[in-house]
Amino acid sequence: MKDMIKQYGNYFQLDTSNTTYSFRVTQTKHLEHLYYGEKIKIDSEDEADFLYEKHEFAAGNTVLYNNDNVNLTLEDERLEFSSYGKGDIREPFVIVTGEDGLFTSDFLFKEAKITKGKEKFKTLPGSYDMAEGVDHLEVILLDDNAKIELQLHYFVYEDTDVITRSAKIVNRNEDKSICVERLMSTQLDLDADDYVLTTFNGAWAREMEKHEFKVTAGKHVNSSYTGTSSSRANPFIMLSKENTTEDFGEVYAFNLIYSGNHYEAVECASNHKLRVVTGINPTNFMFKIAAGEVFEAPEAVMTYSAKGFNEMSHNMHEFVREHITRGKYKYANRPILINSWEASYFDFNESKLLKLAKAAKDVGIELFVLDDGWFGKRDNDKCSLGDWFENTQKLPNGLEGLANKINALGLDFGLWVEPEMVNVDSELYRIHPEWCVSHPDKPHSEGRNQRILDLSNDEVVSYIIEAMTKVFSSANIKYVKWDMNRIFSDYYSNALAQRGVFAQKELSHRYVMGLYKIMEELTRRFPDILFEGCSAGGNRFDLGILSYFPQIWASDDTDAIYRVGAQNNYSYGYPQSCYTAHVSACPNHQTLRETPLDTRFNVAAFASFGYECNLCDMSKEELDEIKEQIEIYKKYRQVFLYGDFYRYDRKNTDNLYQWIVVSKDKTTAVGMILQKLVNANTTFNMFKLKGLENDRKYLFTNRVIKQNIKNFGDLINTQSPIHIKNKSFLQHLVSKFVSMPGETEVYLSSGSAFMKGGVKLTQAYGATGYNDKVRYFQDFSSKMYFIEEKIIEEN
Ligand code: GLA
Repeated sequence: MKDMIKQYGNYFQLDTSNTTYSFRVTQTKHLEHLYYGEKIKIDSEDEADFLYEKHEFAAGNTVLYNNDNVNLTLEDERLEFSSYGKGDIREPFVIVTGEDGLFTSDFLFKEAKITKGKEKFKTLPGSYDMAEGVDHLEVILLDDNAKIELQLHYFVYEDTDVITRSAKIVNRNEDKSICVERLMSTQLDLDADDYVLTTFNGAWAREMEKHEFKVTAGKHVNSSYTGTSSSRANPFIMLSKENTTEDFGEVYAFNLIYSGNHYEAVECASNHKLRVVTGINPTNFMFKIAAGEVFEAPEAVMTYSAKGFNEMSHNMHEFVREHITRGKYKYANRPILINSWEASYFDFNESKLLKLAKAAKDVGIELFVLDDGWFGKRDNDKCSLGDWFENTQKLPNGLEGLANKINALGLDFGLWVEPEMVNVDSELYRIHPEWCVSHPDKPHSEGRNQRILDLSNDEVVSYIIEAMTKVFSSANIKYVKWDMNRIFSDYYSNALAQRGVFAQKELSHRYVMGLYKIMEELTRRFPDILFEGCSAGGNRFDLGILSYFPQIWASDDTDAIYRVGAQNNYSYGYPQSCYTAHVSACPNHQTLRETPLDTRFNVAAFASFGYECNLCDMSKEELDEIKEQIEIYKKYRQVFLYGDFYRYDRKNTDNLYQWIVVSKDKTTAVGMILQKLVNANTTFNMFKLKGLENDRKYLFTNRVIKQNIKNFGDLINTQSPIHIKNKSFLQHLVSKFVSMPGETEVYLSSGSAFMKGGVKLTQAYGATGYNDKVRYFQDFSSKMYFIEEKIIEEN
């Protein structure tokens, strides 16, 4: 066993395969951060001398830590964690208030332990290691005056170049309680001020827009206050140098294993050093800790790469696959599904569903998912959340009867639920109005006509576990989509009311802890169900949810042209098996955009894949194409889901996307190129392959797709013997029998040649001619490429 954590006297060093992280205990017993970056070799405490910051006299107008150390002002040190009150005026890591109201603290090093293995958190999910046990460094610090212990925990995942950090506060007082007002999960103090911060922000149906900020002074905060990790600001962030590209340059990335209000602050303070803190959002947060009790902060995830964004993403992907996702579906083939939502919304009955299921079976789909509308009196979104029993008008044979019929067609059956919510118009609310998050005597602000159940109340937690156990056992259910469709308002728990005035500030965190109890128990009771998280799309897309549910619905916007950007951006922090994507109808229901069916597939295939449209209304040609798509997905499913995912630099344009996924054994890869809008006379495109083995030979081919003559409008008359008017019935008729050829690309060469030289694709249509060597590459067009290793026998 290799030891990835070393202690040389006061110097601590954490190594992964390609990175090093180090800090030391100073004379004053503070923790000075020294280094995080490419792997370095240091074999003794003396060899680390050069890394310490040298201070003789503190600058004017700063606070001296104490008179024995006239050189030490905490404002100008790089620290492993910080607090207010002793000179550091930057973003703090921890604020704890004692019963006397004092919120200055001074945690000093007490001891450190290096061990192997990881205990489960008591209240939160965390990373895990199946192999020999992750290397663990625990540093214990004490504020002796206040009798408060701060524990810093570091876990080193050597294989994925990831280090995780978390913190705990222990109240060592015998009789006094304390109040945690802030406890971050990680802090990183870097020694330069020329970083670019990237965050992923958005809204409902517009998740994961990428934003970049140069933080050279002041503070930038990425946070959520929705009660969830939120579509407004995903907890995944990156810090890179300005010249970093997909394949070159330095980048740090951070994520948080937490599903509630989160906070990532990047501050460039007066001494040109950059501080990052990540953790629970301190806004309206407080947590009272009685004597002897412990408070756990969530686990933060960090990685570093010197080789650009793609390698950073590979670190994160491998970490999430190996150390976050659990259970039977970790590496399993995720089923190709049909979801009833965009096919019929609330308007269905058993026979309509069975028709859709039959059509789905005919094209090769494996799982039928019944979305919203199956319970209580749910014909719209105004009622019945909380009433988890079948609507027998729509489903006279109940869920069991429907599931049996779906199974008889040869499909598995899956179901949508939204257990954390209640409508005022429901039987549950009429019995337990006090179970929701709202003040009993004050007006409540509704979201999607519903209220949030109070998961800080153990009674509610038990109710949800039992209610869902009943539903999940009521039929042969193989998949569950777990939704959560509104954000928090009117933060108030009736259950916490007896605990005093400030107890309401515990609600948002207690809610998340309650949610994790439910998820933990239900995934334990139903290990064979594939759970998919959802929160009005990607409003709770985070590593906390992924610790229980292996996949999450990425967005309610199913438009391929939006999705290509969203999936591209999710891929910075999350592997493609974690986000789900569906081929849906056109015009698209969110954007009313028309996109070709092959583009819809080409984008959705690079994810956990399915369909969400009324197959019963589709033409034979469309269904034939869907059949072919499903065959392709099945053939390459393991590569699509679990292959190494590479993005291409897009040179400041949002117009052209290229992806490639490569199997771990490097025998198979699938590529995709997509263009949003065409420009005439831009006919050249190159597809540079990535991730292949240099010396192996590969065959590069494309998916050949014939083009409908309608795509050429009246230009078709340059070739047609008879005149065909655009949009005429004749055009429609001819299109049934005649189509235009699609280009064929077949090249055999070595991995190194393909990767260095790049495949020069056939000429794109550029207004001056079309034949079978011209690539139809117009608005919203895309192409899929297959790359297979070719074993060439030597003579
Ligand atoms: C949310 C989900 C959708 C669908 C609806 C049903 O918006 O994100 O996919 O399940 O709820 O009400």
